[in-house]
Amino acid sequence: MSEADPTCIGRVRHVLGSSVTVALDPELAGVAPIYRGKLQSVGQIGSIVRFPQGLLDLIGAVTLVGIAELTPALPPVENVQIGERWLKVQLLGEIDSLDKFKRGVGSYPGLDDPVHFATPSDLGRVFPAEKPGLLRFGSLSSAPAIPVCLDAAKLVLRHTAVVGSTGAGKTSAVAELLQNLVSGEWPGANVVVIDPHGEYARAIGSKGSVRSVLDPQKRLRVPYWALQAEDILKIFTGVPIGKTTLKRFSEYVAKARITFVEEATWLDLDPVAVTADTPVPFDIREVWHQLDFENRETREEKGDASTVRVEKKGDPAKLEPTQFVPYKPAGGKPSQGPNYETHGRIPELLRLALENPDFAFLQPKADPHGEDPLKAAMVEWLGGESAISVLDFSGVPTGVADLAIGVVLELLFELALRSEKTGSGIGRPRPVLFVLEEAHRYLSSVEANEVSARAVSRIAREGRKYGVGLLMVTQRPSELPETALAQCGTLIALRLTSGKDQGQIRSALPDNVTGLADVLPSLRTGEAVVSGEAIVLPVRTTIDEPNPYPEAEDPDLKSWREKSGIPDLAPALAKWRGLYDSRSKTKETAKGKTDG
Ligand SMILES: Nc1ncnc2c1ncn2[C@@H]1O[C@H](COP(=O)(O)OP(=O)(O)OP(=O)(O)O)[C@@H](O)[C@H]1O
Ligand SMILES: [Mg+2]
Repeated sequence: MSEADPTCIGRVRHVLGSSVTVALDPELAGVAPIYRGKLQSVGQIGSIVRFPQGLLDLIGAVTLVGIAELTPALPPVENVQIGERWLKVQLLGEIDSLDKFKRGVGSYPGLDDPVHFATPSDLGRVFPAEKPGLLRFGSLSSAPAIPVCLDAAKLVLRHTAVVGSTGAGKTSAVAELLQNLVSGEWPGANVVVIDPHGEYARAIGSKGSVRSVLDPQKRLRVPYWALQAEDILKIFTGVPIGKTTLKRFSEYVAKARITFVEEATWLDLDPVAVTADTPVPFDIREVWHQLDFENRETREEKGDASTVRVEKKGDPAKLEPTQFVPYKPAGGKPSQGPNYETHGRIPELLRLALENPDFAFLQPKADPHGEDPLKAAMVEWLGGESAISVLDFSGVPTGVADLAIGVVLELLFELALRSEKTGSGIGRPRPVLFVLEEAHRYLSSVEANEVSARAVSRIAREGRKYGVGLLMVTQRPSELPETALAQCGTLIALRLTSGKDQGQIRSALPDNVTGLADVLPSLRTGEAVVSGEAIVLPVRTTIDEPNPYPEAEDPDLKSWREKSGIPDLAPALAKWRGLYDSRSKTKETAKGKTDG
């Protein structure tokens, strides 16, 4: 290779494992030579360089740039002359004699070997253009003509994390990926987007199905009865449950489930096999009524159930508790029933939750003579025939939404676990990808509730084997447990401003490219460092813009320029009341009874 080659930029000075120090040619003006009429960025962090080695070309990425006198002697720099400009390069892979790029290197460059910047045709050999199995994501920031494509199978099934500070472009990046997915090779994709802020409907639009907690026409329904008895009680009451209460509740639930199975025409189940955890419907109001009954019961003779002293019969359907004649203290009659106050406030908390309209979407009706309501609900969650299903949880209080999200994920994962590879269903026969916005909310040890934390960490751990992928989106990677990022095969890191978050990403990046983490705070909106299994080399990528964008623009200050007036708050209040219209009633009935 002659030095007259216009792509030659310097020579190898030092080789330390896969880290190579290159002294730049002193004649090279600046660090951006012009090649074929275009400025080439050589001295940019992340730029790709080539070391010709006979039949092979070694490929590396620039991770450090400096002038010797300005830098304290870093170990690999020792051999560089004072005043020399140098680059530190990480070797990443090689192009073989058949022009195929492979990750990892089998040999190392020799001292004084020439170093070249990668021309667009070199880059084209490293970064394959769009071909089957690849999903276009953007283009190289250092060479916009070169597309950056991701391996769709790895992206979907080996879990992916999308991280970045607020406004860095995470939601837009995900929307763009999903748009490319369905408009390209995968019209039959199976993606469930958990959308806590209602941003995706516009971007996915006609290509997907949108279900919302608040939309009466396309209501998102999440049946509580599909859960295990213990979780049901936890969800509704939100407090720790004592052993005795849990045991009694489970007994009543099992009984109620058996009654339903015996009656149901669409279920072919042996009632003997039904337990408190079998996902068949039951009426929780009945169970509440029984639990509440024994919690207040008074009797003439403590040991004789037939001597119960009912004052006014309650009504489970109306959530009216049974009233009893108060017990007489000091051995008088009537006395307390055998389970008097064993359950503390639990029955009352349960009743309040059942009356709370926030929980209404958890209580779809189940008809023993209709159709399987769980099947119907799950088909809705999966978006029916649509490739992408957006589940919009906006407008529900965060705590409740997080719980419901946990329930959806848990139930769909249970379904995937039980779908045979060669059969129908989801998972192994038809992989499913969950897009999880605000992933830290479901995984952080402080914020997460038990149900969703369990579901998400289970999918992260075991999902791959069952064809269930996770795409976690978060602003706060430092709040994810360490294992969560480690389980992601692919990392898409957009601009990150906090040092703590950068540190987390640096430790998640492979050793040889931690230098790329240094660009994180200076990335533009819509730019990312992409690294991991789905991409040939870790690169700085300019992400394509989605069309249309998700509904995530910042509001503007236009209205502030106009004359101010009294704001009309009525529509917003009406909407609020629409959701909470029966709450005031709930509060009133609850008054004075909570400790009863
Ligand atoms: N690829 C892109 N190119 C240019 N501009 C972009 C790109 N992606 C996003 N933007 C701009 O950045 C804005 C914020 O993007 P987005 O809502 O996706 O950020 P985010 O990281 O999801 O923020 P948050 O954490 O607050 O949800 C968008 O409204 C859009 O104008
Ligand atoms: Mg967002």
